[in-house]
Amino acid sequence: MAPAVSPWWQTAVVYQVYIRSFADGNGDGVGDVAGLRTRLPYLARLGVDAIWINPWYPSPMADAGYDVSDYRDIEPAYGTLAEAQALIAEAHELGIRVLLDIVPNHTSDQHAWFRAALADEPGARQRYHFRAGRGPNGDAPPNNWQSVFGGPAWTRVADGQWYLHLFAPGQPDLNWDHDEVRAEFEHILAFWFDRGVDGFRIDVAHGLIKEAGLPDTADPDDAAQSLVQSRAGHPAWDQDGVHDVYRGWRAVAERYTPERIFIAEAWVPSNERLARYLRPDELHTAFQFDFLRAPWRAEVLRAVVDDAIAAAATVGAPPTWVLSNHDVTRTVTRFSRSQPAHLIETDWERGRWADEDPDHVIGRRRARAAALVQLALPGTAYVYQGEELALEEVEDLPDDVRQDPTWVQSGFTDVGRDGCRIPLPWTATDAPFGFGSESGSGTWLPQPAHWGEYSVEAQERDADSTLNLYRDALRVRPTLWRDAGDVKWLTTDADVAAFERGGAQCWVNTGEGPVPLPDTATVVLASAPGVGAVLPPDTAVWLRS
Ligand code: NOJ
Repeated sequence: MAPAVSPWWQTAVVYQVYIRSFADGNGDGVGDVAGLRTRLPYLARLGVDAIWINPWYPSPMADAGYDVSDYRDIEPAYGTLAEAQALIAEAHELGIRVLLDIVPNHTSDQHAWFRAALADEPGARQRYHFRAGRGPNGDAPPNNWQSVFGGPAWTRVADGQWYLHLFAPGQPDLNWDHDEVRAEFEHILAFWFDRGVDGFRIDVAHGLIKEAGLPDTADPDDAAQSLVQSRAGHPAWDQDGVHDVYRGWRAVAERYTPERIFIAEAWVPSNERLARYLRPDELHTAFQFDFLRAPWRAEVLRAVVDDAIAAAATVGAPPTWVLSNHDVTRTVTRFSRSQPAHLIETDWERGRWADEDPDHVIGRRRARAAALVQLALPGTAYVYQGEELALEEVEDLPDDVRQDPTWVQSGFTDVGRDGCRIPLPWTATDAPFGFGSESGSGTWLPQPAHWGEYSVEAQERDADSTLNLYRDALRVRPTLWRDAGDVKWLTTDADVAAFERGGAQCWVNTGEGPVPLPDTATVVLASAPGVGAVLPPDTAVWLRS
């Protein structure tokens, strides 16, 4: 009997398209739908099963599109709804599924609902969290919650009331206890599903429901300060009531054939809490962020992998591996400094836990090895645009070009996430490297002068490039790893993570010396040259027994 083949979403490799920085079709220095359409063949050649497109809806861009003013249209700077539909059809023709990004925790302050709330139209404020302030004149915020981007999570409006925004002031939080809010988002999902969209990544999936009464948090310093450090017990996050929302969404998805799917962005304190989002009548997948927080240490990688797989298995869900995204330091840079012994908790988002210059040669070596580990594991894998080019974080952007609201809201202490959002280099020329027009106004964030070397054009010419490593890995992955079964560890060496799945093995060496490899196996793919009888440091290999 032929082995069972999993549904596509249980084993897929999904490529994250940060649309503003992926490809520019009209030469204005900002990525767009037209640019993405011209690069679909690139993605097909790379071998990905699906793309996830960051928010592409009309937005004042208070937070790079995560402030949506109309959920049923396309941001004019990115294109039109007709172009979006053409893109969906063209992607499908190439065998690429399309996931969008839904932003349900908050709208833009320019959304019709929030304008109505500001105008104090009857009932309009109830769709958000408006409250009177504290203190004799009501001039202190209603509670002590902090915004993820810095400063209080409340802004006062002209008539003296305050509204809640866990992120920027331009992102007022919706009140998910309101029936209209729930109904509206189910309609929005259906709007895009009717247009052929295959699923959604859910932004801040753990934030929609707040504890009743919006009580103070016990420790405001340990609060919603950081997107990636949601603590247990904070009244803004991971409330049990949120699961009811997703049961409703699952029912919407199941009305469609083929079934539409969800992937949750939920920074919750444990994999047990994460698994609750993955119960059979809720969401299909959720990013397993411990993998993206793990230092380059084999023993930590092993623990993180075991924990993620075990927790997902309790609810019959596939694990979902991610090395980086548009909110965190690029993998190359994360691995280019010394590696702490634990999951990186402090200052980690900017990769600056150590006062060291980055060594990108080592960082690239490790990032390439990490990719082979990620792509050999069971479940789904997300690749953030530019990972396949081994791009580094741009840490020296001039302050006056920074766009991330974190920079301003933190009082200019946290540089924010712009450094991982730089427009991709396509050609081995000078900036803008085929992104936008040579004579145009420049890219929306400046690119480093040396990025021609890492451009798609340069890497296509080089058989040993990271781009070609990804292409090879994605070509081999379906036969070697997809549906290959459980992870069986082969050693408990602190510097080596080695596992077998089916007839194949993946070995990675995070130590400083060479590691002997089994002499009965043949090398299928290696992240660096020199793999044979031994595995050099900071290298991974796929073997067939
Ligand atoms: C998570 C997104 O990934 C991030 O970019 C955004 O700033 C916040 N959610 C708020 O929407």
